[in-house]
Amino acid sequence: MQVLKTIEELQEIRKSINGSVGFVPTMGALHNGHISLIKKAREENDIVIVSIFVNPTQFLPTEDLDAYPRKDEADKRICQMCKVDYVFMPEISTMYSQEEVLVKAPNKSYILEGKTRPGHFDGVLRVVLKLFNLVQPTNAYFGKKDAQQLSLITQMVKDFFMPINIIPCEIIREDDGLALSSRNIYLDSTQRHEALLISKSLYMAGSLISKGERDVQKVKDKIYEIMQTLEVEYVAIVNREFDEITVIEPKNTIILVVARFGNTRLLDNIWL
Ligand code: PAJ
Repeated sequence: MQVLKTIEELQEIRKSINGSVGFVPTMGALHNGHISLIKKAREENDIVIVSIFVNPTQFLPTEDLDAYPRKDEADKRICQMCKVDYVFMPEISTMYSQEEVLVKAPNKSYILEGKTRPGHFDGVLRVVLKLFNLVQPTNAYFGKKDAQQLSLITQMVKDFFMPINIIPCEIIREDDGLALSSRNIYLDSTQRHEALLISKSLYMAGSLISKGERDVQKVKDKIYEIMQTLEVEYVAIVNREFDEITVIEPKNTIILVVARFGNTRLLDNIWL
């Protein structure tokens, strides 16, 4: 495994690769969620490239970029164990210059996550576009956990005619149901226990729908009832295009939940 720091190194390597390239963009602090993406990329491609870059442009001025967990050495070991070929770990100054051409994220990036974090997805699309241009992957792997991110990246690739397959990957959970997240480390033991209500509410919603419920309001009511002791930021039921719906469309519905535990926001969702 080789660790690459500069654009020149990465571009030189890319030129020499003939087979398929699987790409997993991350912000590091790798856990089993990231590892599942890397393993899938390993199975499906000749060469695997992982990027580790805590992207400043997707953090709002009010969000603490400096507090984001950084575990470079452990991350490199994990990548090595997963038989990654190249890890790209650039500096901020390598990825960004002072005044850049910007591409505007669509209005859909200002709802749900984008409403709480306005501008977040502009930063995500900006860095992913740069990374895609550098890595030129055949297949790029993204978790369904960040459903809106996945949807916007899929749209960007389509809108810019980029010859890249976006591969959605299942959400990896703890045994008790909590979706893995780099932010889980911020929970104290009481919050960690309370957080189980998030996945529980989603499972209950899924089971209600499998029994035939199609009324979005009734499904939402059930979710709010289960999470009544939590500080729920939003519950949204959307189709794959991220339009809010009033009637459940089986096989085309995503239920999204965000709850707050102090300063920590936990996201979860299920795809029906
Ligand atoms: P990061 O939060 O590090 O996540 C990297 C990838 O891992 C994303 O595609 C995310 O959806 C996926 N992931 C995280 N937790 C997961 C889980 N429990 N199960 C499955 N997949 C999971 O998302 C980002 O970084 C950044 O926004 C990035 C795309 C790298 C751009 O900076």
